[in-house]
Amino acid sequence: NEFCAAVGGGSGGCGVGGGGGGDGRRILIRGGTVVNAHRVEEADVYVEDGVIVAVRPNIPVGDDHVKVIDATGKYVMPGGIDPHTHLEMEFMGTVTIDDFFSGHAAALAGGTTMHIDFVIPVNGNLTAGLESYKQKAEKSAMDYGFHMAITKWNDDVSREMETMVKEHGINSFKFFMAYKGSLMVTDDLLLQGLQKCKSLGALAMVHAENGDAVAEGQQRMIDLGITGPEGHALSRPPVLEGEATARAIRLAKFVNTPLYVVHVMSIDAMDEIAKAKREGQRVIGEPVVSGLVLDDSWLWDPDFMIASKYVMSPPIREAGHNKALQAALSSGILQLVGTDHCTFNSTQKAFGSDDFRKIPNGVNGIEERMHIIWDSMVETGRISVSDYVRVTSTECAKIFNIYPRKGAILEGSDADIIILNPERSFVMGAHTHHSRSNTNVYEGRKGKGMVEVTISRGRVVWEDGILNVVPGSGRYVRTPPYSYLFDGIEKSDAAYRASLRAPVKRGKAAA
Ligand code: URP
Ligand code: ZN
Ligand code: ZN
Ligand code: ZN
Repeated sequence: NEFCAAVGGGSGGCGVGGGGGGDGRRILIRGGTVVNAHRVEEADVYVEDGVIVAVRPNIPVGDDHVKVIDATGKYVMPGGIDPHTHLEMEFMGTVTIDDFFSGHAAALAGGTTMHIDFVIPVNGNLTAGLESYKQKAEKSAMDYGFHMAITKWNDDVSREMETMVKEHGINSFKFFMAYKGSLMVTDDLLLQGLQKCKSLGALAMVHAENGDAVAEGQQRMIDLGITGPEGHALSRPPVLEGEATARAIRLAKFVNTPLYVVHVMSIDAMDEIAKAKREGQRVIGEPVVSGLVLDDSWLWDPDFMIASKYVMSPPIREAGHNKALQAALSSGILQLVGTDHCTFNSTQKAFGSDDFRKIPNGVNGIEERMHIIWDSMVETGRISVSDYVRVTSTECAKIFNIYPRKGAILEGSDADIIILNPERSFVMGAHTHHSRSNTNVYEGRKGKGMVEVTISRGRVVWEDGILNVVPGSGRYVRTPPYSYLFDGIEKSDAAYRASLRAPVKRGKAAA
């Protein structure tokens, strides 16, 4: 009946009303190259009521209810999923300037149709934190999920973690090993948290920097009279990221639970992940766009307004780290790309004009990610188009257990779709972006490949450079526990327990 496009239509009231653009419920994307992480094919994609209904060649249109989009010569791909953002987050005495509306508008204009944001507890209380983020998300314009930070430890927190997983659809918890005096956790807390995560089938995530040593490094810079943004990079060198990454990996190994390392910024941290993977440990490494394509030279810019834009933690590293992270992404050592979108405008950045320790940490990226990764990774031949889909969308959907509803162009998947024209070029900057910030760390950056159309759950929200976003139209996507990363954990625990009593061990001890 309503599947008119595919049957040639014309019957049962089809073909009445509507007109040129259709009624908005049905879309046929014709003639494009459909890219999934598992295969690339020439096919049409038919969407009805927010869901992908058919993916195959030559789907006929017989009905003017259907909006037809010509994708000849273009790539039709799953919308991006950003695993790491901070919208309307209270942080370092201020609040990030993009909220769940402006952040979503920016995301959609850049081809990202879902993100997972970090709920920050209120005075350590998870329920209060979730309530606050639910309110913030009332103006959402695209689908979103939540991770939750754990900032203190007691029986209530432990119980609330269970409630978050079982009742509120949160399957990941983040532990900050830095930000001493605010978000930082001790090793003791991290260990308790890892064990609790394991018992719930929830993924533990870490911001890996040694926060005690960072505080020491900051004091060193102040003692030397270095108060500008370059002091930020100098005070928290890669060795502190490598150390914390190694520590978190070893604790996760001790507990035998999967670990997700957010914003891998240095070779030091990446090498620890590579080593753990070589040894068979389940560790996910997430590079972010800024770490993949920028370098720390910006932090030495004599203009504070420029230099301070680039202050984020862990810091953007010396040139060389970025290319090594790109190589690690190509070879699968790092698995998916986030942004850590955490924007502060120049007035907020100026809070630290006389002391780098007061510059709010964070950079933009939610709008730029899909374009920069296409240009720097696909356009240069570093990864294939199907790997592009994997690192920008599919892998995130799998890790957070929402695949194939998200992260795929398949029958039955949500119609979160982008159409990318590989022949068009882009130029980025604060004058054209959709973030509320008045600055952009990619100011003036040019590249190839342009997201011309974004479809969010079956609605065309970005086309011909025009955004059509509706506050309140986004939906919360629950992320269930026990993703594929947990498959086999019980077996390996059992094997370990058995090995403790193995005769060969006793034999050795006796010998
Ligand atoms: O500088 C950063 N990364 N700001 C956001 C908070 C975090 O550490 O992810
Ligand atoms: Zn019809
Ligand atoms: Zn972080
Ligand atoms: Zn972050």
